[in-house]
Amino acid sequence: MTAAGTGRGQGKVLLCGEHAVVYGHPAIALAVDRGTDVGLTRHDGPTTVQSPHTDPRVSDAVLRVLPPEGMRVEVSTDLPVGRGMGSSAALAVALVRAKAALAGEHLDLDAVYEAAMPIERAFHGNPSGVDVAVSARGGCLWFERGRDGAVRQPLEIGDVQLVVLDSGHAGDTAALVAGVAAGRPGNDAALAAIGDLVHQARSALHDPDALGAILSENHARLREIGVSTPQLDDLVQLACSAGACGAKLSGAGGGGIVLAVTREPDAVLRAAEGAGVSAFGCVPWHA
Ligand code: PMV
Repeated sequence: MTAAGTGRGQGKVLLCGEHAVVYGHPAIALAVDRGTDVGLTRHDGPTTVQSPHTDPRVSDAVLRVLPPEGMRVEVSTDLPVGRGMGSSAALAVALVRAKAALAGEHLDLDAVYEAAMPIERAFHGNPSGVDVAVSARGGCLWFERGRDGAVRQPLEIGDVQLVVLDSGHAGDTAALVAGVAAGRPGNDAALAAIGDLVHQARSALHDPDALGAILSENHARLREIGVSTPQLDDLVQLACSAGACGAKLSGAGGGGIVLAVTREPDAVLRAAEGAGVSAFGCVPWHA
């Protein structure tokens, strides 16, 4: 029999706090029920990678973890790639877990995090680590960059229903972060207001109406700091007009996705379809 190992990493959304988190304010990230699976089998010959990602960094990531000979690697995912939903972190976590499973080892969450971070760095240079942490452990995570390292604290969240609306293209995270930095100190009041909204969101994680209103307010502040686009504003408007409790861009902006909190996902999905917008529903994922 051929030895085989499988592993999975979850995707995530930033519920609120992006950009402000760079300046020491908190953010809340949430694992969702979409993710990436990796299957490994041993075979004779060079290690091969079969993947829906055309990005050459996928093969580079695989070869950081696996030997150049003797493995067949199959990657499958239902995450949009390059939209701020943590597809590279999900791949890293899935790969680390598949390798451990093949070796008959069990890795605890800390071990998965430590092994997956170098792979995530191969994609993103100097990532905060929140994507990998959420991808590995699931659930909802409060995240704050402190002087003495990052604070990562699990939060309880209710059964919120989410719709992701895809702008169809990636934002340039580094350029957007640099643009926000260039707009300081003028941007500081909006960044602080985003930090306040994250504190409010923490108390609204079981109340879709209150949470949605906070998300919409967060979007208005993200517009102020210049990371939204007319298309993203239209997607927020589309979701809210279709009855969503609230919506915002999620991730770096400039493209990427809009995240809507809703009691009626089908109504938002129908509105998106009618407007020719690619969209899908998702819910929080817990281990
Ligand atoms: O698009 P994502 O999920 O990589 O999020 C970027 C979040 C920023 O706050 C804009 C940057 C950062 O490093 O936190």
